[in-house]
Amino acid sequence: MSSFPVTRLRRLRRTGALRDLVRETSLSVDDLVMPLFVAPAALRNERLPGLGRHTVDSVVRECDELLALGIKAVILFGLPEAKDEEGSGAWIDDGVVQRALRALRPRFPELILLTDVCLCEYTSHGHCGVLGSDDEVDNDASLELIARTAVSHVEAGADVVCPSDMMDGRVGAIRELLPQTPIVAYSAKYASAFYGPFRDVADAAPAFGDRRGYQMDPGNVREALRECEQDVAEGADLLMVKPALPYLDVIRAVRDRFDLPLAAYNVSGEYAMVKAAAAAGDLDERAAAVESLTAIRRAGADVVLTYWAKEFAQWQS
Ligand code: PBG
Repeated sequence: MSSFPVTRLRRLRRTGALRDLVRETSLSVDDLVMPLFVAPAALRNERLPGLGRHTVDSVVRECDELLALGIKAVILFGLPEAKDEEGSGAWIDDGVVQRALRALRPRFPELILLTDVCLCEYTSHGHCGVLGSDDEVDNDASLELIARTAVSHVEAGADVVCPSDMMDGRVGAIRELLPQTPIVAYSAKYASAFYGPFRDVADAAPAFGDRRGYQMDPGNVREALRECEQDVAEGADLLMVKPALPYLDVIRAVRDRFDLPLAAYNVSGEYAMVKAAAAAGDLDERAAAVESLTAIRRAGADVVLTYWAKEFAQWQS
């Protein structure tokens, strides 16, 4: 390799066109998935616009706008009318996500409809599975309900299901009932402090305890690879790492080890931090968001779930 002055790395940084030409990482609306919350009543969120609640009617209008902006994929979360011990709102035929899917599917055949498959928004105790007699989440008893939820989403029109509960064996349980449906496995989902704003909007904070008994310990990366291995063996089509920015090394490790497409979830806390710093005048939101999303792609994610998807598309147009 030659050295200075033969080599001058600044030569390719001199104009925007040159920088565009040699950029190693691309970022486009094609790579992004917009999360949407569907609830019995709408709730605007002025501070965090990506984290408002839609009704079935307003989610239809929103998807119309998103498609016009070039967004091709959304992931739906639901808030039920009533919660119970088993989270039945997650799988009942007229559940809020099921109704949204039935409204969206015929109107937008080209929009990819992903659904988050979990019980935490639907259970009275706020945990991601059902509780056993000891008030611990009962892994094996939860599997049937998780799989039932995925099936009801597909029956209502979902293209892709995304189990986020972190029960062992849930990908296999869903795969058995849905041989044709793509599954995005939230494979390496960490017990993170960065889910705060999501838990507010989705009303999904655990009523007691925490999620460390099923979500991953933030100190671990080899374990993330084992989680991915299990999900691949059980029939996952995409793997996911979540959160994204504090776990770029995990994204890279999964990218290097597995050849499946990889998603990363740029979670609510990551979005809220930048919004808050921008509101305080400390950061330029648009630059910080584009840099964050580019970094997630550079680390190895093919697909990014992000609350910035809509704003990013608006910045591009
Ligand atoms: C449901 C779920 C959560 C998120 C996505 N799916 C919350 C949690 O596990 O507590 C978090 C998303 C975000 O913070 O943006 N299990």
